[in-house]
Amino acid sequence: MHEVQRLFSIEGRRALVTGGTVGIGRMIAAAYVRAGADVTIVSRKPEDLERAVAELSADGTCRSITADLSTREGCAHVADRYADHASSLDILVNNAGATWGADFDEFPDKAWSRVLDLNVRAVFNLTQAFAPALRAAAADDAPSRVINIGSVDGIRAPDLDTYSYAASKAAVHQLTRHLAKRLGPEGITVNAIVPGPFPSRMMAATIEEMGDSIAEMSPLGRIGRADDIGAAAIYLASPGAAWVTGSLLPVDGGVIVGS
Ligand SMILES: NC(=O)c1ccc[n+]([C@@H]2O[C@H](COP(=O)([O-])OP(=O)(O)OC[C@H]3O[C@@H](n4cnc5c(N)ncnc54)[C@H](OP(=O)(O)O)[C@@H]3O)[C@@H](O)[C@H]2O)c1
Repeated sequence: MHEVQRLFSIEGRRALVTGGTVGIGRMIAAAYVRAGADVTIVSRKPEDLERAVAELSADGTCRSITADLSTREGCAHVADRYADHASSLDILVNNAGATWGADFDEFPDKAWSRVLDLNVRAVFNLTQAFAPALRAAAADDAPSRVINIGSVDGIRAPDLDTYSYAASKAAVHQLTRHLAKRLGPEGITVNAIVPGPFPSRMMAATIEEMGDSIAEMSPLGRIGRADDIGAAAIYLASPGAAWVTGSLLPVDGGVIVGS
């Protein structure tokens, strides 16, 4: 293999991507499958998982686990089912997330638990549940990887009334740094991708409502594409990023600097 290809190769690596059926998780899962990784995707809806596995398997290896990650039991269930086929995991992508929009005066209390349970608690609980498998995959100079999906809304104040979501994403960024410090000595890197707007189920209504103005938030004048997020996720999982940990990688077309 050419040296440059080796630097960015994740061929044969075992990866698990939460929320891999649609949106950003699906884009990352597809990039990993095409790069030759053995990919497991996780979400709640069995029919969506079945469809995604059938489509992704056309390009390589993909399997699924059905679970609700917003509970500790759900996270433990994923680790148990995963252990049925493998004892080590090279790459954990904590992507599944939810949002809640409501006017400030009406913003309900339940919008905090619903969003934080999945966006923050599940990131910790799943990383904890998979720590033994991540430790088992770690080798000298070849750390295993945790990649969290944050958001530009965890850095800049959003235009929309998504209070618990923005706070949850700031928490993901800080949890990324904290876990990087704790898990680095065990051969596990922890980084976050900070996406700008990408087409997805979560973003469908916003994109429809905001139209072209959402693309104009980026100095580059467009929203994200599958290749933009796929390339970043491959890089952070690759040998080339073995000494990168605790970092936040914006993949946002400059939305943060343009706001
Ligand atoms: N799209 C954007 O513009 C954007 C920008 C910045 C950050 N992000 C972040 O990127 C990540 C993915 O967002 P997206 O826009 O691609 O969202 P999406 O289209 O709504 O997809 C969310 C995925 O997570 C799964 N999921 C939701 N709740 C779950 C639960 N309780 N347990 C297990 N799986 C669950 C969904 O499947 P089921 O419903 O079947 O469970 C789906 O596969 C999120 O963390 C989001 O905050 C997105």
